[in-house]
Order: sequence, then structure tokens, then C-alpha cells
Amino acid sequence: MIAVPTPRGLSLRISVTDRCQLRCRYCMPPEGIPLCGREAILTYEDIVALVVCLRDEFGLAKVRITGGEPLVRPGIERLIGRLTDLGIPDLALTTNGLRLAELAPVLKQAGLRRVNVSLDSLSPETFRRLTGGGDLQAVQAGIVAALDAGLRPVKLNAVLIRGINDAEADHLLDFAIDHDCELRFIELMPIGPGARLLPDGFLSSDAVRRRLGAHFTLTPIASETGSSARRYGVVNTEGNRGAVGFISSCSAPFCAECSRLRVTADGRLIGCLARDGGIPIRGMLRAGDAKAIGRSTRQVLKGKTADRNFEQRMAMASIGG
Ligand code: 5AD
Ligand code: SF4
Repeated sequence: MIAVPTPRGLSLRISVTDRCQLRCRYCMPPEGIPLCGREAILTYEDIVALVVCLRDEFGLAKVRITGGEPLVRPGIERLIGRLTDLGIPDLALTTNGLRLAELAPVLKQAGLRRVNVSLDSLSPETFRRLTGGGDLQAVQAGIVAALDAGLRPVKLNAVLIRGINDAEADHLLDFAIDHDCELRFIELMPIGPGARLLPDGFLSSDAVRRRLGAHFTLTPIASETGSSARRYGVVNTEGNRGAVGFISSCSAPFCAECSRLRVTADGRLIGCLARDGGIPIRGMLRAGDAKAIGRSTRQVLKGKTADRNFEQRMAMASIGG
């Protein structure tokens, strides 16, 4: 096995589709993005082959299924089942939650450990506006179903945009505490349409922490291994306890500790969210060329740099959120 030039085990984020039912303002333009053709999308066999290669050669420690919206891909539980059988220690999924009420039990049964759900607003109207038509109630039902199915911890991801949903920080945190979820505030990144909301819409993690300080007591706690979030234990005015994390991709980049690789829905291996391009590996996977996959992986890992400038024009839904 080859040592990974990062302090933590290698982690892979797999985008299983670039499609999504929603159009979040920071992620998808209203008209959508140019989608890859069906034949270009990695099959479940391709994905399994990639995970086997990375497990055997690099000791893959963590896999996260993303999109687009991963739960719109038919038979996603079959992929989860196959990845579970490969013995990946940490298997997680990021979703918009719309289909979670229906799918949580099946996903759990297939071996999924935990989920992250995007939740940017608790006002049905703001939620609809921000997500391009999303149904808040369905997402909330999805969160409850995930908890009931034992997909724990359920983490909630919130991107605050100044002037749109930034007044909801307290409310979102109370919701998370009440539902036994960990909330993570993610700084708005200049990726795809997110760039158009900057600089006016940007709110730093420090600013959010200061605001929360008025109604919550925050105490720093240790970050989880491989996590990009800075975490705090939190107590609200009623004395209820929880945890909150801040992902400060812009104000305090964590590139030096990043051991993440991404594979796009059409099979490009990418080392960093902030850069375009990547190495196309679909052909290598279909040819069963493990050596070429290993070479490409080393090349992408070597290209990971600690000084980052966002140069990303693609939307998150293309890269894998
Ligand atoms: N900035 C920050 N986060 C983003 N996401 C997508 N686009 C952006 C962006 N421009 C994140 C959201 C969502 C996840 C799938 O991707 O946090 O929860
Ligand atoms: Fe869809 Fe997630 Fe992008 Fe929103 S952030 S448009 S839910 S992929």
C-alpha cells in the first residue's frame, strides 16, 4: 500500500449524478447546467471499480456520495450496498433531503452510516425562493425519517447569504439542537453561480459566531478526524445542548490538511474544489487498468496545493457537492 501524502486517510467524494430537482441560488443557475449525456455518467460498476482501486492501493478511509442530488439516481441503494460490502470504514451521503422520508430506511438497510442534509432556511417562503421551489416540509420530514432510521449523526448544512437568510442563524441552531442534529455553517464559496452573490452576500464564520454568541454559549471542542469543520459545543437559552461547526473555506482555508479527492459524475478525478479540470478516468475504469488509476490518483494528490485561489467556474452540481 502506498502512503497518502496527507495526515489523514484518503477520502473520496463521488458525484453519482449532476442532476438535481432544486436550483439553489449559490449552486445552480435558474436555467440549470449543461448536463452530461447518460452514456458519460459513471455506472455503478465503474464506481465500485474505482473504490476497490483506491481501497487496495491507498487505504481509502471514507466515501461520501454526492451529486447533484444523489437520491434522484435510480437504485442508489444498490450502490450503497456494494460499497458497504467493500468494507469502507466511513460511508456517508449528502442530500437535499427531498426524497429522504421515502428512502431513509432503504438506505440504512443497505449499509449507509449517516447523512448530511442541506437546510438553509426554516421559512417555507425563503426556502422556496433560495432553492428554486423546494418544499421545506418534505425536507424536514426527511430529516426526521433519517433520525428514525438510525442514520446518525444527521448533520445539517447551512449556507448563510447576507440579506437573504442570515437572520435565521439562531433559529437554525435551535432547530438542530431540538432535533439532535449537528448544524454546520458553510461559508458561501465563489463556485459557479455562488460567485454572483459575492462579495455582498458573504458572511464569514467569525461574523456568524459573534451573532450566535448573543443567545448561545459556545465552547470549542475537538474536530472529528478528517473533518473540515471547526466545532463548538453549544448551550441555548433553555439550557439545551448540542454542537455546531463552521466550515470556513474562504476566511480560513483548510487546504493543508485536506485529504479529499473528488470524482465527477462523468468520471473526472479532481483534487481540489477550487480548480477546474481533473483527469478523465472513465476509460481507465472500463479497461480495468488499475495501474493507470493509481498513477492518476498520485498525480492528482501531488497537484493538491496548500495555497488556494478559487478558480472554479463549474457549479457544485457538476463537481460534486
Ligand atoms: N458555496 C457554499 N456551499 C455550496 N454548496 C453548493 N454550492 C455552494 C457554494 N457556492 C454546498 C451546500 C450544499 C452542498 C450540497 O453543497 O452547502 O449543502
Ligand atoms: Fe441541488 Fe444541492 Fe445544488 Fe441545491 S445545492 S441545487 S440541492 S445540488
